[in-house]
Amino acid sequence: MSDSSAMATGAADNVAAIILAAGKSTRMRSKTPKPLHALCGRPLTGHVIHSCRTAGVARVVVVVGHEADAVRKGLGDSVEYALQEAPLGTGHAALAARSLFHGWSGTILVLAGDVPLLPAPSLQRLLEHHKRTAASATLLTAFLDDPTGYGRVIRDADGCVAAIVEHRDATPEQRAIKEWNPSIYAFESDHLWAALSRVEPANNQKEIYLTDAIGILRGGGRRVEAVPADGPQDVLGVNNRVELAEAGAILQRRILVEHMLAGVSITDPASTYIDAGVTIGQDTTVEPATFLYRGTTVGEDCTIGPFARISGSRIGNRCRIVAAQITDSTIGSDVSIGPFANLRPATTLADRVKIGDFVETKNANFGPGAQASHLSYIGDAEVGGGTNIGAGTITCNYDGYRKHRTVIGRNAFVGSHATLVAPITIGDGAFIAAGSSVTVSVPADAMAIARARTTLKEGWAATYRAERSAAKAAEAANARPNHGSE
Ligand code: UD1
Ligand code: CA
Repeated sequence: MSDSSAMATGAADNVAAIILAAGKSTRMRSKTPKPLHALCGRPLTGHVIHSCRTAGVARVVVVVGHEADAVRKGLGDSVEYALQEAPLGTGHAALAARSLFHGWSGTILVLAGDVPLLPAPSLQRLLEHHKRTAASATLLTAFLDDPTGYGRVIRDADGCVAAIVEHRDATPEQRAIKEWNPSIYAFESDHLWAALSRVEPANNQKEIYLTDAIGILRGGGRRVEAVPADGPQDVLGVNNRVELAEAGAILQRRILVEHMLAGVSITDPASTYIDAGVTIGQDTTVEPATFLYRGTTVGEDCTIGPFARISGSRIGNRCRIVAAQITDSTIGSDVSIGPFANLRPATTLADRVKIGDFVETKNANFGPGAQASHLSYIGDAEVGGGTNIGAGTITCNYDGYRKHRTVIGRNAFVGSHATLVAPITIGDGAFIAAGSSVTVSVPADAMAIARARTTLKEGWAATYRAERSAAKAAEAANARPNHGSE
């Protein structure tokens, strides 16, 4: 995916954006405010901010109101915020940002915070057209056979935009119009403020509609331009969770296509899920049922999946990851993970590490070439390079009150089914005998054995079997009823 590096453009010079995100989001039926609902791993309104940044818009103001603190926190401090005290309409929301533009004039993009799929080049096209035509306002428009719910674009006899009429305020003739308003506009700031100060709440909702600014500007003889969106998909508004899922599917497809065109093989796009902002190197193959979530980066020539769920992690080059869950971890190159491995947060694997089946790690560093191939729990631990952790090894890191560290040196050998009771240090090159429960630190190159000696009894098994079979035969004979006739 492209990152937020600004496209080189002159069109975005002296341009600011106001993103409207103060509404009550009633139709989401959610405790989470709509701007924060996740769409491919990024908040809904975060996508609008991202488009602005990618288009080169330096100054972005988000208007918040409903759940203002949560929305500010969720969207972060890369933008400015304005507060709309009460949700009195989209025009009222835009006016809430006015004081931040005192003494500033230029072009202001006004964007609905719930229209997340607009590609940055479309914003740039809108700005270029707006500047070239020296319009007061330019809006993006789109077409649908049935634009129910959206505002309709009313054109005059010359084909110029005359006004926007909301669906609920529209006459049957106006409702038959297929051209609709996606709520993405460029305004000259002075004209915007002047028009908005004249908008009356004379509508079905008793709200100050931003859309009315268009009719007011036209009525005052100002130039209003329209630019068609590339398609209705780009300007889909998200008002409920059905539309959220539809937008998610469209965006997911775009993300997958972008990776494939950049040289990533995706064996089964239908069962693959990749968040916005995830990066994947060339010639990596993503196998079916794989989920790459927020902030993950994957290097080149890896095979990821089938069945991998990776979140917030960095993966190097040439890694093979099968049926594994990896969270907030850092993985080097030439690493093999899985099947059925669970790498929990703060796991760091150096190059050439192998983590095999049914191994769980947490807050653990593995040096180059270290291995834990089967059935282990390695938590709060250091494992030195070249060390082998035998099947079934457990770091006993928790005493019921606190976590303790296990430090294992380089080129050590931990035999199968060892329990290492932390805090404990195992020196470089040390050898832990299989089945040991080790409670004291082991010096470098020492051997620790902590288990009962094997006792051998020659012939014991044969004698045991003979006795048991004889006893069983006698029991069967006794159990037979009456031994004869009545
Ligand atoms: C709006 C447009 C409609 C357009 C549609 C496109 C108006 C009056 N209508 O309708 O023409 O077709 O978007 O998606 O502009 N908001 C505030 N404060 C408010 C009200 C809304 O900040 O008081 C924000 C909302 O949080 C939302 C955006 O403005 O992000 C749009 O509001 P919404 O109520 O969803 O408008 P629509 O009915 O979709
Ligand atoms: Ca909307």
